[in-house]
Amino acid sequence: MGKYKDQHQHSLNEPSQYWLEKSKDVHWFKSPTQGVDTTHSPFNTWFKDGEINACYNAIDIHVENGRGDQTALIHDSPITDSHTSYTYSELKDQISRFAGLLKSHGVAAGDRVMVYMPMIPEALVAVLACARIGAVHTVVFGGFAAKELAVRINDCSPKVIVTASCGIEPGRIVEYQPLVEEALDISNASATSCVVFQRPQSSWQLKEGRDKDWLESIAAATPADCAVLKSTDPLYILYTSGTTGAPKGVVKDIGGSVVSLKWTMSSIYNVQPGDVYWAASDIGWVVGHSYIIYGPLFHGCTTVMYEGKPVGTPDAGAFWRVIEQNKVNVLFTAPTAFRAIKREDPSGSLVKDYDLSHFRTLYLAGERCDPDTLQWAQEKLQVPVIDHWWQTETGYSICANCQGIEPMPVIPGSPSVAVPGYDVTVLDNEGSPVEAGEIGSIVVKLPLPPGTFTTLWQAKERYVSSYFERFPGYYETGDAGYIDENGYVFVMARTDDVINVAGHRLSTGAMEEVLSNHPDVAECAVMGVTDELKGQLPVGLVILNSGETKSHEDIRDELILKVRQDIGPVAAFKSVAIVEKLPKTRSGKILRGTMRSIADSKEWNMPATIEDPNVLEDITKSLKELGFAKEQS
Ligand code: COA
Ligand code: AMP
Repeated sequence: MGKYKDQHQHSLNEPSQYWLEKSKDVHWFKSPTQGVDTTHSPFNTWFKDGEINACYNAIDIHVENGRGDQTALIHDSPITDSHTSYTYSELKDQISRFAGLLKSHGVAAGDRVMVYMPMIPEALVAVLACARIGAVHTVVFGGFAAKELAVRINDCSPKVIVTASCGIEPGRIVEYQPLVEEALDISNASATSCVVFQRPQSSWQLKEGRDKDWLESIAAATPADCAVLKSTDPLYILYTSGTTGAPKGVVKDIGGSVVSLKWTMSSIYNVQPGDVYWAASDIGWVVGHSYIIYGPLFHGCTTVMYEGKPVGTPDAGAFWRVIEQNKVNVLFTAPTAFRAIKREDPSGSLVKDYDLSHFRTLYLAGERCDPDTLQWAQEKLQVPVIDHWWQTETGYSICANCQGIEPMPVIPGSPSVAVPGYDVTVLDNEGSPVEAGEIGSIVVKLPLPPGTFTTLWQAKERYVSSYFERFPGYYETGDAGYIDENGYVFVMARTDDVINVAGHRLSTGAMEEVLSNHPDVAECAVMGVTDELKGQLPVGLVILNSGETKSHEDIRDELILKVRQDIGPVAAFKSVAIVEKLPKTRSGKILRGTMRSIADSKEWNMPATIEDPNVLEDITKSLKELGFAKEQS
């Protein structure tokens, strides 16, 4: 581990020097002389005196350096049976026009623009147009419902919502207009205007005075140039799930994001300018921000935007077809996608139908990667399979096997070692470091490297209390795990109420809020139960108010529908049981951990603090009826 160890050590010993050196790899209008400023820790800032533009680094610089005719973006959409590509010059034209259009709507640097779009090229154009003029984009995943959209609108008051007439899921068109209308109705943002991209599959009825048609407006727009912005200005807000129902608006700055993401392309992913990089995720997630949009474009790669699924569009060979047709060098996706493929084509027979000769490496993240999936992918694809661990808050990996620095042995079950910039430690409940191999809270010593979150939007106190209060001097990742004697980190579980469903981060707290708002529900608990395909699935247990006369079946259906309507289909909330009592400690705390073990058919011990041990018998019975708790009696 010579080269890696040297780099890692250097980054921890002299963070400012280390990252100032890396900052020379990107374009600055004014180069920074300062690395990290820790005066107001944990509100640390990077490259404070630098001036920069993220869109310039993603697009213009490549046109100026002679890559104008290179393909920048491939939109591969089996769901609409289309395949389109755009050069860097073509994107520059589209983006600068759309930036001009935003300006004509009165959008200025610092204003928020919400992007609620399916996986179409216009989504990338909208995001980079914001970056071009210094507007702060906030992308909302299309699988979230109107209420979630409204919460985000209320929190960041966007001046414009950029949207499309519809998204397309297998077997159904997702009309966006009713969702946006409802969100605007229930939010306090009546003045917000909308720019709508009309897709042929569905049409949005433009509302006079509020809505503008994308194509018409962009044709008439005056192109806007890149604004000179402070390195510390916000690039985007991305909402993510926390313990409570209110999502956290994770804020990223410009300079830190440009420097770190550009650096990861060579150091972690070992790709070169001109390589084809495919992150099979969605622009609504952090993976999409960092590796469908920014990272590959900062590095002069070709990025692939895929509007399809790993299976069913049309079959479990879809990923191999995309790799062959687009000569993909590197694929990044979530293990759940591979579990879906493996389930449909266990022998990997479809792999053989395609020419994967350009394909070099597979990267997995978004959830714990089970060793079976990793080994299956290694065997079928015959390329290195690299698990890496990261979060919305960090924007790129905390731990990875950095292929561009020094490839290290792959240990299934571990996302490998701390990436340069991250001083990763495991602490016990009292905040003391644990021995190698012992489980505890995974934390990162401050300061965090550039490109990680700088605050939560309009929630500075929550930023401090959620992440920095429990272990002073450290960032609390919210993940539990251990580090072995060779420095390999094993990320095992969350320490909070966040669950991971098919690589999507969701809050059980938010689901509990929805259930408890149902008039017939007296009390409830939602927990994440192990699922073979999606990693975890939410399961709800509810106690009804006395005197309720509706059938239990009707109430269960209403609860499932309510979570779908309030949070969105992506929550995949389909299992709920009505119970008489919930197991609690004598002090009234619901024993979710014990219920989870029962549901997962794992061994469990009767908690010494339980108020009424008999309750667990009923819970086990209910979980069995839902198809869980298979062996445990
Ligand atoms: N807009 C609207 N609805 C959406 C949506 C979107 N952008 N994305 C998902 N949904 C809906 C789906 O249609 C589905 O609805 P349904 O209950 O009516 O069937 C529901 O949300 C759950 O979707 P999904 O999580 O995609 O589950 P699935 O069972 O349809 O497919 C997988 C399972 C494994 C194939 C799928 O989850 C997948 O491709 N995962 C990849 C993970 C990923 O990209 N993670 C990002 C982090 S790297
Ligand atoms: P998100 O913010 O949506 O990217 O989700 C981040 C969370 O996903 C982390 O805190 C982990 O719980 C989980 N996660 C992401 N990548 C991995 C990984 N490689 N191994 C284990 N857990 C992961």
